Amino acid sequence: MVTPVSRVGAEAAAEVHAVVSAAFAARPVLDPPADALSETPESIARALSRHGGLLATVAGKPAGALLFAPSDGVVFLRRFGVAPEAQGAGVAGALVGAALEEAAKGGFSGVVVLAREELPDTIAFWRRHGFAEIRRHAPYVELARWLPRAYPAPDADTMRGLGSQLAGILRAGDLVTLTGQLGAGKTTFTQGLGAGLGVRGDVTSPTFVIARVHPSLADGPALVHVDAYRLGGIDELDDLDLDTSLDEAVTVVEWGEGVAEGLSEDRLEVRIVRATGSDAVDEDPRQVVVLPVGPRWRGVTLI
Ligand SMILES: Nc1ncnc2c1ncn2[C@@H]1O[C@H](COP(=O)(O)OP(=O)(O)OP(=O)(O)O)[C@@H](O)[C@H]1O
Ligand SMILES: [Mg+2]
Repeated sequence: MVTPVSRVGAEAAAEVHAVVSAAFAARPVLDPPADALSETPESIARALSRHGGLLATVAGKPAGALLFAPSDGVVFLRRFGVAPEAQGAGVAGALVGAALEEAAKGGFSGVVVLAREELPDTIAFWRRHGFAEIRRHAPYVELARWLPRAYPAPDADTMRGLGSQLAGILRAGDLVTLTGQLGAGKTTFTQGLGAGLGVRGDVTSPTFVIARVHPSLADGPALVHVDAYRLGGIDELDDLDLDTSLDEAVTVVEWGEGVAEGLSEDRLEVRIVRATGSDAVDEDPRQVVVLPVGPRWRGVTLI
């Protein structure tokens, strides 16, 4: 069933307040109590008139709500709640999806929530929706999901340029995973990264070696270029006896999806995509989609 979710302002304060009060009253009693319980229709109206919120309905009745609170380029979701009688109807997931869309439209770099440490189910809910813990300040756990950015890459030079620009936000210990079809431009992108980092040696397809190390020409991090196709798992990287430690290098894994997941909580996922799948590049130019994952990217502005 599709749950309709609408963007609302102060006009919906009474409904939002009713949902939030019912949702938070139904939760376990916490010490200190959830601030949400002290909201009034007036305080909700003030928050809604400033930054708006979302209201989900089931069979025409208010079923879930949240308030937006932008701060420093990200948007916090506050007072996220589903009415007890509407639990299990997919309302929470629909709210998360709509919030991510709104945040992307608003040009925010991420969506952040605060969850109470005492509520592991709530924390697990956010993790299932792609949020990762970025810090703790008792009694809260702060979780964030960053938003992907897409950049057009109509030709190989643009692809190299994007890699080179992205190198500007990378530092030692970072992991970049690169995915895209055969011939998508993954190695071309990595050449740009290498140029941007100022490393030695031509970056070529690592097809005949599992990993190649390009030392820095200055005193920056080396570039470790890995062909994950030939790698059983990233632990094997540790066994390769590269003459650099991954903590001191920027590691780029081609075909990194799957292999790289789980190995590092922090990573920059780069996907090279074509919208229609047509082989004619003029009709269907490539796009580079960059998705930061994990706490490392808090406060980092993408290119
Ligand atoms: N954005 C782009 N638009 C059009 N052509 C591109 C683009 N980026 C790279 N190319 C060209 O596509 C070809 C394949 O590029 P590349 O070797 O980088 O792909 P790859 O994804 O690494 O391939 P493989 O899957 O074999 O590892 C090259 O000829 C390259 O110049
Ligand atoms: Mg390649």
